[in-house]
Amino acid sequence: MSSTASIEASALTKRFGDFVADDRVTFAVEPGETYGLLGPNGAGKTTLIRMLTTLLPPSAGTARVRGHDLVREKRAVRSAIGTVSQAITTDENLTVRENLSVQGKLYGLWGRELSRRIERRLTQVGLWDRCAQVTRHLSGGMRRRLEIARGVLHSPRVLFLDEPTTGLDPQSRRSIWDLLAEMKESDPELAVVLTTHAMDEADFLCDRVAILDSGRILQEGEPEKLKRLLDTGEHVEIETDRPVADADRDVVIALGAANWRSPVAGHAEFQSRPGEGVGRRAAQLLEERGYRIVHLTIAPVTLEDVFFSYTGRGLRE
Ligand SMILES: Nc1ncnc2c1ncn2[C@@H]1O[C@H](COP(=O)(O)OP(=O)(O)OP(=O)(O)O)[C@@H](O)[C@H]1O
Ligand SMILES: [Mg+2]
Repeated sequence: MSSTASIEASALTKRFGDFVADDRVTFAVEPGETYGLLGPNGAGKTTLIRMLTTLLPPSAGTARVRGHDLVREKRAVRSAIGTVSQAITTDENLTVRENLSVQGKLYGLWGRELSRRIERRLTQVGLWDRCAQVTRHLSGGMRRRLEIARGVLHSPRVLFLDEPTTGLDPQSRRSIWDLLAEMKESDPELAVVLTTHAMDEADFLCDRVAILDSGRILQEGEPEKLKRLLDTGEHVEIETDRPVADADRDVVIALGAANWRSPVAGHAEFQSRPGEGVGRRAAQLLEERGYRIVHLTIAPVTLEDVFFSYTGRGLRE
């Protein structure tokens, strides 16, 4: 690990009584990098972010944020970071503008500079026309966007985003991605740590991702690299006119279908080695067994396949 890393976590551990929420988590994020924490519910992502943002003391291990020790230099860490937490933390009784104004003053912003930033951030998240509205009257997605505007108001050098786009409509999601891209452009050293359950989002936003389960990092690397590491390179989806019976499923698996999953009845997904034609043979076999194939897709593996192969869990289940 280089000494110039934006984040260096070394064996960070959090215990709640006997329960270990984060277990010796070690990773580094370089300036300019976007790092994704991926993992099922309860994996320890939020707990990790809460430690790294000084909200929760680690039980063991150490971390530095822009060179500052998490525990001994809390203030310095706090002034370097911006946080968008998974929970809603804006004050519902203040107006949209007041929420940002309070935050800005905490970071020493005032006067014209503060007003300018508030307008810019609210415009970026599509809430400028709502600036005078009382926060409790915003919709859920709007409150989420206000949280984000507030977290980035002071242009932090290290940004933690805990499920920033959960609950947002497609257009709002895109506006958040644009906002991130713009922040990176104006600060090429900006380091971002984000969690998401949307694997497509993780794939194109993150330079590297870590797959976290039961408090441990199971795998880490560039999304493309993790996909290449799978010994299966093909992702197959088959839609049938009725649910595939267990016995028929087992015959398909015997053809070489790995990680079979059926998130909804009549829809099956699996992975297979590329070039072996397992997808087509599986469809043919199911047809012979009396199923009508409504749809067949054969595509390269996705980050979701990677996620599934490490955690044994899909995201739509
Ligand atoms: N204050 C606490 N006291 C006891 N247990 C806790 C506490 N905070 C978190 N946990 C437990 O730690 C584990 C990890 O929780 P965490 O919120 O970090 O998961 P997560 O990966 O963020 O999940 P999600 O995807 O649902 O947001 C869970 O089992 C949770 O119940
Ligand atoms: Mg969480």
